[in-house]
Amino acid sequence: MCGIIGYIGSKPANEVIFDGLTRLEYRGYDSAGIAVVDKHKIHVRKDIGKLRNIRKLLLDEFESTSSIGIGHTRWATHGRPSAFNAHPHGDCHDSIMVAHNGIIENFMKLRRELAASGHTFKSETDSEVLAHLIEASYQGDLKQAVLQAVKSVEGAYAIAVIHKDHPDKIICARKESPLIVGLGKGENFVASDVTAILQYTRQVVYLDNFEGAEVSREGIKFFNADGNDVEKKSVQIDWNPVAAEKGGFSHFMLKEIFEQPQVIRNTIGGRTSEEEGKIYLEELKLTGPDIYRTQRIVMVACGTAYYAGCVGKYLLESLVRIPVECDLASEFRYRSPLVDANTLVIAISQSGETADTLAAVKEARKRGAKVLGIVNAKESSLTREVDGLVYIHAGPEIGVASTKAYIAMLTALTLLALMLGKIRSVLTPEYVQEKIRELKILPQQIERVLDRKDAIRDIAATCLDARSFLYLGRGFNYPTALEGALKLKEISYIHAEAYAAGEMKHGPIALIDHEMPVMAIVTESDVYDKTISNLKEVQARSGRLLAIATEGDHEITSLTEHVIEVPRVSDIFSPIINVVPLQLFAYYVADLRGLDVDQPRNLAKSVTVE
Ligand code: G6P
Repeated sequence: MCGIIGYIGSKPANEVIFDGLTRLEYRGYDSAGIAVVDKHKIHVRKDIGKLRNIRKLLLDEFESTSSIGIGHTRWATHGRPSAFNAHPHGDCHDSIMVAHNGIIENFMKLRRELAASGHTFKSETDSEVLAHLIEASYQGDLKQAVLQAVKSVEGAYAIAVIHKDHPDKIICARKESPLIVGLGKGENFVASDVTAILQYTRQVVYLDNFEGAEVSREGIKFFNADGNDVEKKSVQIDWNPVAAEKGGFSHFMLKEIFEQPQVIRNTIGGRTSEEEGKIYLEELKLTGPDIYRTQRIVMVACGTAYYAGCVGKYLLESLVRIPVECDLASEFRYRSPLVDANTLVIAISQSGETADTLAAVKEARKRGAKVLGIVNAKESSLTREVDGLVYIHAGPEIGVASTKAYIAMLTALTLLALMLGKIRSVLTPEYVQEKIRELKILPQQIERVLDRKDAIRDIAATCLDARSFLYLGRGFNYPTALEGALKLKEISYIHAEAYAAGEMKHGPIALIDHEMPVMAIVTESDVYDKTISNLKEVQARSGRLLAIATEGDHEITSLTEHVIEVPRVSDIFSPIINVVPLQLFAYYVADLRGLDVDQPRNLAKSVTVE
């Protein structure tokens, strides 16, 4: 999704901005642009395509060494990907330039009004109206003009604005779209995302809704919607910039898959006491009465986070014995959900910025529910909308297809379920003790799966021409099948569908023939025998069977073409280990097909539009 970076300091702005834009690439984009202020003139260059292909325009042959400017990566919503729709956008005379993230919902009306009063538009975007609105309000004071302009806007915005006659400031403002200001020495930054500026500074200020900032070389003044000064505290980001680099791996996705053992250690770190059989989740902020009062839990999330929520349903229902529903955030928010003060809503999100998840949380709170966030990105919008939090500590996830955040979400949900199960006296301290012990050896067990990467690559190589895949799982691993299929389609563009294995006979069985690979998750569990029966149905119809199975399982080898073995773990931990070979499998299929694994077509890392 779109990214913004602004720079003011003493270095050539286009160099800093180009560098920042490359670090925002992971969000997904189709075009990019940079604008700087130089001697009372704006220089703007933008084009369609990946940064490596438009580097000459934005970097090598950029005609100004000015040290103030803004840049943007665009992911098309209103208007096709093209050079003229790329940001930054100018007013009628290119005196003002705006980089915008979000969606201006009333842009048609605003555009009509502006056009009627003589403004000419160069793009098809909603964002361009902002430049014209600022132009219409400008009387020498850029901050006031921006404040005036955003008053007529409905929808979401994070904006960075420059003006040809103000080489000493960038004005930025936000509503519903994330925006941060980075503090340097003699230089300052604006960005939609900390990863854009981590290599320059880790000291950042998060803007809240309806806040803005006047960013100059010497300092920053924050203001509210009325233009009055507000005090803001900066926070130190503990993410290591090296963690956002590839570190020798061919792709971020592969690096992130290999980071998963460490991610589990980070997620559980300091939160368990094996001796006492206790779990501590400090930011949870749920009181005893909140926990006892809960009669129902509703998970809301999107994409991979939603599948983590589906595993959460199995975990919480079995360990806490509370009924759990899983809802896609985009569905939940529009169907007048039945939640009340006795419902705990758990919102799960890697970025903490997904528009549908944020809206679902607001809807739940409006109806009186308590909301708990399971989030990766610190200080993200979601963290400010919830009653309590469990941070998953996965570190920056750059690959568009989520991997380590999923594992961390499952680990956090497991901790939560063990903790609530103990508090509600469903679980004994001895049980919790045993599970803490098992959880702690899970990272080593995952390392054993990662060691099998070459074998998984060889299996992937036999599937490159498949047109469609079926993924099957039952119980705790039905969501694993869903997530495995999602990974494959996201990055390899091969159609993949997941089914609860017991449901296969009610439809998808009609698709099975010798060309259709079926990936079965069939590790030891209470439903192992049932799943084997389902796989025999596939075998009887000459389907190509691939399986994820427990080490030493001989029965499965007689049924399948290929088996990927995983170490034996308790059923409740099986989704954490079983998804790892599926991630690697999807990765290798996509890589061997020569595809852009880290930035798959049409997808965005952080979906900040509905
Ligand atoms: C996008 C990403 C997915 C992610 C989903 C939810 O679709 O491509 O990888 O799972 O958004 O994102 P969140 O940040 O809320 O977990």
